Amino acid sequence: MSTWFITGASRGIGRELVEHLLRRGHRVAATVRDPRRLDDLAERYGERLWRHALDVTDTAGVEQVLGKAFADLGRVDVVVSNAGSGVFGAAEDLSDQQVEESIATNLTASIQVARRAVPLLREQGGGVLVQMSSMGGQITFPGFAIYHATKWGVEGYFEALAAEIAPFGISTVLVEPGMVRTGFFDAAQRVPVSEPYRGGPADTPPPPVASMPGSRSGVANAIIEAALSDAPPLRLLLNSDAYELVTTAVRERLAAFEARKESAHAADHEA
Ligand SMILES: NC(=O)c1ccc[n+]([C@@H]2O[C@H](COP(=O)([O-])OP(=O)(O)OC[C@H]3O[C@@H](n4cnc5c(N)ncnc54)[C@H](OP(=O)(O)O)[C@@H]3O)[C@@H](O)[C@H]2O)c1
Repeated sequence: MSTWFITGASRGIGRELVEHLLRRGHRVAATVRDPRRLDDLAERYGERLWRHALDVTDTAGVEQVLGKAFADLGRVDVVVSNAGSGVFGAAEDLSDQQVEESIATNLTASIQVARRAVPLLREQGGGVLVQMSSMGGQITFPGFAIYHATKWGVEGYFEALAAEIAPFGISTVLVEPGMVRTGFFDAAQRVPVSEPYRGGPADTPPPPVASMPGSRSGVANAIIEAALSDAPPLRLLLNSDAYELVTTAVRERLAAFEARKESAHAADHEA
């Protein structure tokens, strides 16, 4: 039996993870903005479900709730930073508040959860840090710029952090799903494109949720297997769309860099 700490467990991938883990006999510290969302699971699983209210943008709350979970449960093997949200629209059309809230929820909160979890994992002799990224942390679509800024930010932060904390026995897993059938796209704020952007690249709504390839249970299962494996991977690319789009984009990026090799080297010399 292992013990997990999960943010954003009210619905979607977070809730699916909680349900899978409890069904398999693991212990879960689930955090949600509204703990009543977990009443049914508390009734069914009793003490194996520890729950607490947490808005991940409340950094003091993150520190307090993580500390309490580790103290109450004695040990937490896997910390999953899952909470996230989307704001879609032409980059120019988003309000300052939408930009700041998106960065606060998806990037700053992920960084602060990790900064509070790492010392606790280190003190207990190791563990696994699972950070939800996205194929949107490796590729981009017009109309999603601020979401990409947060997920590419997550990728850079956690790749560097992974090397820092590996010597303490802490593994880091960046989860990069494709489009998964959750309420994410319905919950996302959509900013109508302004006149200059109408009919342009940013004016493309996401596909209907029913047509998205990713399943919640498939993603939850893959995260559990990876986190509990002997050698958790730094990047866990999931779903067929993510695999095709990311491998193609990375190949094209490499080819574009290589095509500019001479000019890259030439810039070493005084001009
Ligand atoms: N669905 C996809 O296609 C997809 C693909 C790649 C990556 N992801 C990533 O996977 C993660 C989960 O997404 P999902 O598809 O499961 O989305 P979802 O169904 O919309 O669930 C999002 C979860 O995050 C919580 N949350 C949002 N803001 C929060 C805050 N400030 N504090 C605490 N909790 C907060 C929500 O809680 P409330 O119920 O309180 O709002 C909810 O539990 C996200 O990081 C997302 O970026 C999703």
